Amino acid sequence: MAERQVKVYTRFNRLWHWSQALSIFLLLFTGLRILGVHQLMPYGLAVIAHTAVAVALLLLWAFATFWLFTTGAWRQFMPSSVGLWQVLRFYAWGVFHGEAHPYRKLLRRRHNPLQALSYLALKTMLFPAIWISGLVYLSYTFWDHLDPTGRGLWVVANIHILAAFAIASFVVIHVYLLTIGHGFRDHVRPMITGFETVDLTPEQEAYLAADEPGRLRAKGA
Ligand code: HEM
Repeated sequence: MAERQVKVYTRFNRLWHWSQALSIFLLLFTGLRILGVHQLMPYGLAVIAHTAVAVALLLLWAFATFWLFTTGAWRQFMPSSVGLWQVLRFYAWGVFHGEAHPYRKLLRRRHNPLQALSYLALKTMLFPAIWISGLVYLSYTFWDHLDPTGRGLWVVANIHILAAFAIASFVVIHVYLLTIGHGFRDHVRPMITGFETVDLTPEQEAYLAADEPGRLRAKGA
């Protein structure tokens, strides 16, 4: 295995990640206004902005899901128990004792087992929970006759808020984990340039050099 700079995040991947991040920040900001946590913008504007950004993000999410399945990128998110214990132990103990991160990024597996597990949970549980509850909430005028006591709306609203706080917690942990190890900037740079240091087998390196030379970059370049 040799360490090489390889493009692991395509342009779409990066565009999708950052527009998703921006949309989630806007949704949290406007959502907290609707909830009454702050008064930094008019209530009516917050409702319109929240709905518009949510619909735009839903469209982006549909494109990203299509992209994940048509390019095979979904495989990166399949969790594996191999190395999970070492990564858990590192975050619970090793990180506080100056140990090196036990996970080495591979071409076919850029996420460590804990990342793969948490990204998968985000995509298959938290995102569907917020979308479904949001759409059911938005279409309340179509089903309000089925909910004379307003109890149904209360349940939907609370699922929506709970999912939003869980996503906000994900963001806090996600950004915190990027500060661990070899520096925040080094962790964030790959999601901007697309290039990441990964371990390549001689066969992978020969394949990339011959078939996808644009994905390989000289070390230190
Ligand atoms: C706000 C909501 C956010 C969500 C939902 C989110 C979600 C994700 C997901 C699913 C990935 C894996 C992408 C892939 O491998 O294809 C990822 C990676 C990454 N994110 Fe975020 N992210 C968010 C915010 C942020 C922020 C604010 C930063 C930095 C300040 C950030 C920096 C990164 C970096 C550097 C990676 C690549 C490293 C890795 O694989 O973990 N993200 N993010």
